[in-house]
Amino acid sequence: MCLSKTRCSLCWITSCRTVVWVFLWTKFSCSPSTPADCSQYNLPMCPRNFEPVCGSDGTNYSNECMLCFQNMERKTNILIRSKGEC
Ligand SMILES: *[C@@H]1O[C@H](CO)[C@@H](O)[C@H](O)[C@H]1NC(C)=O
Repeated sequence: MCLSKTRCSLCWITSCRTVVWVFLWTKFSCSPSTPADCSQYNLPMCPRNFEPVCGSDGTNYSNECMLCFQNMERKTNILIRSKGEC
């Protein structure tokens, strides 16, 4: 639904640019960061399993939960850059 021709093409351009941006992002960022799924943990309690993840801050975390814990403690929003050590 369009209010006017101008507005219509404007919103088309905007959504088109978003699509292109998302496409380029997924295509060319070889390892897109994903947010940790912190809801599955009972913070601040973390399991002691060693399943390292690499944070978007370039730090090793011994598991996903430790990254969640850091985010909670330091009020940061570090993402998971990749599974495994950096
Ligand atoms: C993460 O761990 C790996 C393997 O132990 C090590 O080579 C790397 O330097 C560590 N990275 C950081 C930022 O501590």
